[in-house]
Amino acid sequence: MNSSHQVTHRPLRAAVVGSGAISKEHLTFLSGRSHTAGNVADRVELAAVCDLSPVAADYGANEFGAHRAYTDLAEMLTFEDLDVVHILTPPASHVPLATLSLEAGANVICEKPITSSAAELEQLLAVAHRCDRAIMESHNYRFNDGYLAIRESLDGGRLGDVTEIEIRICLPVTDPDGRFGDPNLPSPIHRMPAGVLHDFTTHFAYLLLGLTGDVKFNRVAAAWSNHSGIPHFRYDDLDALLIGEGPAGPIHGRLRFDAGSSPDAFTLIARGTRGWMETDFFQPHLRTVVPRPGGAQLSPIVNHVANGLGLVRDGVTNFGRKLLQQTPYHGLHRMLDETYRALGNGTPLPVTSGDMLAAARLVDHLLDDEVRL
Ligand SMILES: NC(=O)c1ccc[n+]([C@@H]2O[C@H](COP(=O)([O-])OP(=O)(O)OC[C@H]3O[C@@H](n4cnc5c(N)ncnc54)[C@H](O)[C@@H]3O)[C@@H](O)[C@H]2O)c1
Repeated sequence: MNSSHQVTHRPLRAAVVGSGAISKEHLTFLSGRSHTAGNVADRVELAAVCDLSPVAADYGANEFGAHRAYTDLAEMLTFEDLDVVHILTPPASHVPLATLSLEAGANVICEKPITSSAAELEQLLAVAHRCDRAIMESHNYRFNDGYLAIRESLDGGRLGDVTEIEIRICLPVTDPDGRFGDPNLPSPIHRMPAGVLHDFTTHFAYLLLGLTGDVKFNRVAAAWSNHSGIPHFRYDDLDALLIGEGPAGPIHGRLRFDAGSSPDAFTLIARGTRGWMETDFFQPHLRTVVPRPGGAQLSPIVNHVANGLGLVRDGVTNFGRKLLQQTPYHGLHRMLDETYRALGNGTPLPVTSGDMLAAARLVDHLLDDEVRL
């Protein structure tokens, strides 16, 4: 990321490329309807929506109050004076669309995975540097409440020294009725190096690295499997083990993608020398098991009661979220809010080029032949 952007006192003119599933979240933020970020009209102006499909472009523009709809990014960049372009298209199109946007003088916020490899990311960062513009990949779950609470507990020493981070996604990606499983119209994600799992590897990487800091994972083993045997799936399962040396001892990382187990889950468990915490980004809750008042005998019981009450409260909150049709993307809205504040103030963006490169390098490493099981 290049952080030499200028301070500005007018709303930043933004546009979206790709009016598909995730655009709803970006457009909700840009149109000032986010529950998390609220009204951003003094800082952001939604200028245009672009999609190869005119129906999708018109829908996004009309639904979220953009001034214009386009079907060609180059045309949009010619006619709109844009400060920020959000690239929300399938991964293989990110590099050419980001390059066009940067060269037209816009800053870029790009959905993950921003590129298919760290080498490709280095080239894109060089383009941003040459154009003196900022580029940032969405690392959205790092801005969710559950992650932030775990991060704060680790930083404050409540869990002691970190010993293990386990991140697990359970999603039925091979379901023929789902967005990745359609055999007649295979998703473009299948062409990425990790196939459909490339849609999730960036999340694994930045969450693990965000909680383990400078730890170098020097022992890595990754089992990539296609348990379903469906030919257009490269993989549908990942079981990866990473072991590194932390400042206070060894740290284990466990990354698990599982298409066979139910229900859907995206859990993060952080264990330390004093206690552990667990959250689920899909069904948000926070479970904390630490020494509590009462000594060794009573502490487990106090933990059960405190966690039981917490789970009931989180269950009621989640029911309310379902009724209001809220999604697990409050972190994405928070990330965008911080990004626009940084762009307006000329301060560093909340996801740095170092964060992006470290995540991309970890994904490359997990795909290396030498670590495969
Ligand atoms: N951060 C997250 O948690 C999260 C969640 C979901 C998806 N994503 C990412 O967002 C990206 C998009 O995913 P999606 O699920 O919204 O996909 P989608 O298929 O629902 O939407 C993509 C849209 O881009 C359009 N498009 C494709 N090429 C284009 C081009 N050259 N110019 C203009 N429009 C073009 C398509 O017509 C389609 O409408 C992917 O990289 C995905 O991994 C991120």
